[in-house]
Amino acid sequence: MSRILAVAGKGGTGKTTLAALVLRHLLRAEKGPFLAVDADPDANLGVMLGARPEKSVGQVLQDFLEQKLSIPQGMPKQQWLELQLNTAIYESKGLDLVEMGRPEGPGCYCSANAVLRDFLERLSENYQAVVVDNEAGMEHLSRRTAGKIDQLFMVSDASAKGIRTVLSLLELIDELKLNPGRKFLVVCRAEKLDPRLEAQVAKLDVEYLGAVPQDPNIVESDLSERSLLELPGDSPAVRAVAEIMAAAQAPAQVEPVAKVMERR
Ligand SMILES: Nc1ncnc2c1ncn2[C@@H]1O[C@H](COP(=O)(O)OP(=O)(O)OP(=O)(O)O)[C@@H](O)[C@H]1O
Ligand SMILES: [Mg+2]
Repeated sequence: MSRILAVAGKGGTGKTTLAALVLRHLLRAEKGPFLAVDADPDANLGVMLGARPEKSVGQVLQDFLEQKLSIPQGMPKQQWLELQLNTAIYESKGLDLVEMGRPEGPGCYCSANAVLRDFLERLSENYQAVVVDNEAGMEHLSRRTAGKIDQLFMVSDASAKGIRTVLSLLELIDELKLNPGRKFLVVCRAEKLDPRLEAQVAKLDVEYLGAVPQDPNIVESDLSERSLLELPGDSPAVRAVAEIMAAAQAPAQVEPVAKVMERR
């Protein structure tokens, strides 16, 4: 069964960058293949991975709903749609990518949504791990991610406001009954979290994995539109993500009773 890793959090904090760095790490550390899912309608993950799918899943679905694709005679509609959805998979060595595209238009496309979820769920089974990059906020997660999330990486900056947002995200996760296997916090574009904020985080129901520093090589990759998969192994952010992934693999720390009591 494949492992589902999802990245979520506040806008502009470094979610997509982290998703790309996690994939870079997995490609070297584990046996693939891996699937990257760009669930942000404002798709960016492909650029950071040097992958450019021709169509998003949303586009395929839209074309289908508008009957732009003529269905061969005798073929059931659902089967035809599923075949077409396969054209949205961008394939490369060890790593494939799908872009979900714009959310479904107004009106009830419920049956189409169900097909989409089924498609993602079945597709995921072909991979060792799936990394899902999400748009800012959390509301979309339950709707646009198929299956259960094993590891949810919440991204924040190192500000007090950023950490407050993490608290709201945690509340929303509960409300949405997302129930991820493990909830992680990763602070991006910072050397570390101020001890006062770290003390606050320690009281939250989230495992703080560490910080990914501001990395000049990422700035350069962004400006020259180079894939983050090509970053050198000694790049500061790459190293930090290796440590973060090691911590994510380690067994969860059993929560001290004092911490549980304090939260109550
Ligand atoms: N560790 C880092 N070092 C240098 N630049 C970074 C780092 N992390 C992110 N950036 C830069 O910050 C900008 C925002 O990052 P990114 O797109 O990953 O954020 P995001 O949370 O996915 O944003 P959005 O909410 O718009 O999807 C990008 O230009 C990216 O190159
Ligand atoms: Mg993003």
